[in-house]
Amino acid sequence: MAEPVHSLFDRTAETYDRARRRLIPCFDELYRAAVEALPFSRDDDIEVLDLGAGTGLLSAFVAYAYPRARITMVDAAEQMLVQARERFALGGERFRFEIADYGEGRITGRYDAILSALSLNHLPDEKKRMIMEQSYAALTSGGIFVNADRVLAETPELENRLHQAWIRRARELGVNEHDLRQALQRMELDCAATVGDQLEWLRAAGFREVGLWYRNLIFAVYSGMK
Ligand SMILES: C[S@@+](CC[C@H](N)C(=O)[O-])C[C@H]1O[C@@H](n2cnc3c(N)ncnc32)[C@H](O)[C@@H]1O
Repeated sequence: MAEPVHSLFDRTAETYDRARRRLIPCFDELYRAAVEALPFSRDDDIEVLDLGAGTGLLSAFVAYAYPRARITMVDAAEQMLVQARERFALGGERFRFEIADYGEGRITGRYDAILSALSLNHLPDEKKRMIMEQSYAALTSGGIFVNADRVLAETPELENRLHQAWIRRARELGVNEHDLRQALQRMELDCAATVGDQLEWLRAAGFREVGLWYRNLIFAVYSGMK
């Protein structure tokens, strides 16, 4: 049986953060767009769920922008959440951590924002749709779903060219070849989908104000509101 994707992340958790800015040449803009998509005021008491939170990178951007937000981080890779716990060690009860496979369980609880970064692309399409439907049910009225993810190009040729352009940029930024190899190995397990399909699935799940916030090479940020 193929190794589950979270065990690959478990094995590379300690060095995960080091490589991110080079592996994601648009790192700051991607995460910034995901936070900018949130329609709340800085001092709102919002309840946030981060699916596939990993070491807590996206949650850290959210926590900084929304100092009163309570954030639940879910991940199937225990070692990734160990890093996240360290990152938020001084944050107290604002931050919760849950080891779980979000592709299997149900989203319980009520949230104002359900977010994910570079994680849902690991799910087969029917499960991505299931997550969108569950998110819609778990969101409060006026709540938002935001996904910052690796996306598939519209044609195979375009996919190949964008993929090569991404590798070129990562190398220009000085990515360590070992980190690049590990990322490429993890990407073999990706089930990325096109932006067009994902926006359509959000609409079908009931979301409104569905749209794209950002796109760069193989990365995009999109959202939908309840
Ligand atoms: C590329 S990392 C992204 C982590 C973080 N969101 C970030 O932006 O750096 C993907 C994370 O998704 C987690 N993941 C993948 N599939 C999952 C699933 N079905 N359930 C829970 N976590 C999952 C992996 O364990 C990994 O920590």
